[in-house]
Amino acid sequence: MPLARCALRFAVEIKTNSPQAQLTSHRALGNHQETDEEEQEMTRDKIPGASANLSALSDLCTPWCIHVVATLRIADHIAAGIADIKTLATKAECDADSLQRVLRHLVGKGVFQEPAPGQFALNEAAQGLLDPSQQLGLDLDGIGGRMAYAWGSLLTAVRTGTPAYHEIFGLPFWEDLEAHPDIAASFDALMGPPGHGTPDPEVLVTGGWESIRTVVDVGGGTGALLAEILRTRPEIHGTLVDLPRTVARADSIFQAAGVGDRVRTVGQSFFDPLPAGADLYLLKSILNDWPDREAKVILSRCAEAARPSGRIVILGGVSPDDRADPQLLMMVLLGSKDRTLTEFRELANEASLKVQAAGRLPSGRFAVECRPM
Ligand SMILES: C[S@@+](CC[C@H](N)C(=O)[O-])C[C@H]1O[C@@H](n2cnc3c(N)ncnc32)[C@H](O)[C@@H]1O
Repeated sequence: MPLARCALRFAVEIKTNSPQAQLTSHRALGNHQETDEEEQEMTRDKIPGASANLSALSDLCTPWCIHVVATLRIADHIAAGIADIKTLATKAECDADSLQRVLRHLVGKGVFQEPAPGQFALNEAAQGLLDPSQQLGLDLDGIGGRMAYAWGSLLTAVRTGTPAYHEIFGLPFWEDLEAHPDIAASFDALMGPPGHGTPDPEVLVTGGWESIRTVVDVGGGTGALLAEILRTRPEIHGTLVDLPRTVARADSIFQAAGVGDRVRTVGQSFFDPLPAGADLYLLKSILNDWPDREAKVILSRCAEAARPSGRIVILGGVSPDDRADPQLLMMVLLGSKDRTLTEFRELANEASLKVQAAGRLPSGRFAVECRPM
């Protein structure tokens, strides 16, 4: 069982049970359904928590120490052959004594080793900090910092029922990203292949790829899913819709997949009318970024564009009725949530969509297929 599951974060799938994979998990805005379920199962196992240790559960020191050493790339410096604390601190441009205290705390928690006084080494857990996806999720100077500091707004979010991200960062989440291109770039990287790896292109619940020639990935990020769909199905053409700054980063992904000649990008808001007439519209890890009012508009835009015969597939953000995820990170960042299938069905109906099928994909992800009414 994972040592330190933060039920928070944007997405990095836990791939193994090894200590480095267990170091921390970064869960996406609804991404990685499998991970959600593991976590829910763990939560159920733990209830009512006779063995819960409040001191350990409320320890903020260790998570912050991990964020700090990740931000300073201490594991990379050690992997490059530096062991001595003074040299490590010089490389990381930080204070040697303070760094040593942080590292010693982590050694006591099983991350890093100190084979001789003032000499630090990687152990299996610390090697997890070499993983670029971990670095993206933990780096306090990038999106990792937004996800970490945002927890300071949890109390207000709970008191008011609305997100208070702007109290910490001055602007709501998406506006904050728009105002800070470096943070937006690290968010796109976390959501894309560096953070999530290669997505599974099997996205249909009911099958029937033979009737699909055109796919629009709505809010498709930097295009990793669309690239995989086009790569595995040469007869299909695709359109990537996302904000202009994000689609501008998609070209290298499409070129690497060899699909550049079958794809176009449209930098626009998904609250505006979408490219019409495609056979399939995808919404992956989108609906759980938005409260009901906005989620309904996005679904309505898909319904309008897909009419009369297109399909809309929702991946992430909808769970089987007995398995809705609390998604607290989404609550603090965006005031949004996971929806049960029953809740989603109602929202979809209001957006003139009918749920046709719902179920698990080969990847284990729960998906819902809709048609325009
Ligand atoms: C959680 S990410 C999901 C990205 C991608 N679908 C995936 O699963 O990796 C949400 C995406 O919504 C995009 N987004 C946010 N607001 C948007 C808007 N108003 N119009 C279009 N895209 C938007 C973001 O840029 C981001 O790529």
